Amino acid sequence: MKNIYNYLKTLLIPFVFILQNCSKVSAQICSKTNPINCLQFEPLARLWNVSNEEVPELLDLEKILISLDSKLQPLLNELYFGGTYLDIKAGKVNVNTVDQSKVDEIRNKMKNYQEYLNFIAANNTLSQLNSTFNQTFILAQQFNLTNCIISIEPKFNNVVIYLSMDDGKNKEFIENVETFNPRPIIKLLPNEEKEEILFNSSTLVEKRILYTLVEGGSRIVHNNGIACSAGFWMKKNNEDFIVSAGHCYINFPALFYVYSIQNNHLIGPMGEHHIRLYDIGFIRKTNTDIILRPVIRQFYRIITQFLQFLIVGSSEITSCGVHICKAGQRTGISCGLVSAFNSVQTIGGLIRIRTIVVPMDNNAGDSGGSMFRYNGLNGQPNLANAVGIYIGGFFGDVAAGMPISIAFDFNYSLVTHNI
Ligand SMILES: *[C@@H]1O[C@H](CO)[C@@H](O)[C@H](O)[C@H]1NC(C)=O
Ligand SMILES: *[C@@H]1O[C@H](CO)[C@@H](O)[C@H](O)[C@H]1NC(C)=O
Ligand SMILES: *[C@@H]1O[C@H](CO)[C@@H](O)[C@H](O)[C@H]1NC(C)=O
Ligand SMILES: *[C@@H]1O[C@H](CO)[C@@H](O)[C@H](O)[C@H]1NC(C)=O
Ligand SMILES: *[C@@H]1O[C@H](CO)[C@@H](O)[C@H](O)[C@H]1NC(C)=O
Ligand SMILES: *[C@@H]1O[C@H](CO)[C@@H](O)[C@H](O)[C@H]1NC(C)=O
Ligand SMILES: *[C@@H]1O[C@H](CO)[C@@H](O)[C@H](O)[C@H]1NC(C)=O
Repeated sequence: MKNIYNYLKTLLIPFVFILQNCSKVSAQICSKTNPINCLQFEPLARLWNVSNEEVPELLDLEKILISLDSKLQPLLNELYFGGTYLDIKAGKVNVNTVDQSKVDEIRNKMKNYQEYLNFIAANNTLSQLNSTFNQTFILAQQFNLTNCIISIEPKFNNVVIYLSMDDGKNKEFIENVETFNPRPIIKLLPNEEKEEILFNSSTLVEKRILYTLVEGGSRIVHNNGIACSAGFWMKKNNEDFIVSAGHCYINFPALFYVYSIQNNHLIGPMGEHHIRLYDIGFIRKTNTDIILRPVIRQFYRIITQFLQFLIVGSSEITSCGVHICKAGQRTGISCGLVSAFNSVQTIGGLIRIRTIVVPMDNNAGDSGGSMFRYNGLNGQPNLANAVGIYIGGFFGDVAAGMPISIAFDFNYSLVTHNI
């Protein structure tokens, strides 16, 4: 927990005053008798195709499956098994099984969890997939592809390659990749910019506030005019930072402003930033009129409302099939199920590693935005764990993120609320 700073509850009061109309600071609980409190679960309820009230129970089940999967994975020999993925609604950890004779040994070691385990017949071992993954990655670098994401996706028991369909170098790359054994799955996706999304401005009007707030998902604008999104409030050496994408740094001095209807207010410069191996940058807050909050707040288009989450911790992604949501200023809040982590992306001559891959809506301008998971403690719909920041992908289809643990590795700490 050394990476986490607790944000004092007392400091919460002006914020609660502004956003909750002076109501008391009591926990919101979603339950069948209090369905109004369940509205915040709507993005996840839609993803899982369940009612909002059913989400807390499924979140509890998801936690059980994640912890079970992390006990299980080290037991699976990569010469006999081909990876695992969770199916939350079925309540199962699916285990790709190439050698059926090894199942009993695993079942014996996981005696207390039988009902959650689902051994599925599969053709490719993790070690074979790793080798195809490795070869594909080397080839993608040789071909210098415009945009290419390579992962081992346990759900397909294969290596999956996302490629831009209009890249001229594709044809020869694909011909080479198709000779690999196992042969990867190739998904060609469009890679063009979509039109700017216009919100109904009357839905964007908010109560007048005294301070200029920067929260997860806020639009931040570089002094050269490009817009990105704020990730999370972090601290290093007692200074305040906003973590965002490293590629949002265009040129020195890379001053960032927070967008508001009348004025853009200076936050400060992005100093430390990385675009090789990782895509992450840190904007140092130099303007004392700017207030940072350990909060994510963004528009959810489907119900045309802002949703707001308190950051109470962080989560590392260790299982496929778990939910992730993101908040970006361009496409707002969206959620998806993790198809892979530890993926690589080659993009315009650069390599990004340790990438999280999630099929969900995303677009230019969301870069740097918060990726999070619902915490769901005791059915509370407004608590979130930081997972990472959105860095790009294939717009509208597949989002790529950098895990928050990379910021921890650079010695930044996450600021959180107490619960
Ligand atoms: C969602 O669930 C309902 C029943 O609960 C089912 O009829 C429907 O087909 C499901 N939709 C999708 C997209 O899976
Ligand atoms: C495994 O490979 C065989 C032969 O290529 C194929 O018929 C079968 O569908 C594959 N099984 C799975 C689970 O992919
Ligand atoms: C592939 O195998 C190597 C060595 O065993 C391991 O370090 C690496 O994490 C594996 N890669 C994947 C994607 O599983
Ligand atoms: C990937 O392949 C290269 C070259 O064949 C090899 O040196 C390296 O150890 C491999 N890495 C993994 C993780 O398997
Ligand atoms: C914008 O939203 C408001 C309130 O929801 C509605 O009254 C108005 O008709 C909408 N305007 C447009 C142009 O859609
Ligand atoms: C790879 O492509 C990028 C543009 O997509 C270009 O800037 C870079 O120079 C290329 N690198 C090599 C080694 O060809
Ligand atoms: C982080 O801090 C530790 C301990 O002070 C230090 O050893 C390490 O080099 C630092 N890492 C970075 C990336 O600055």
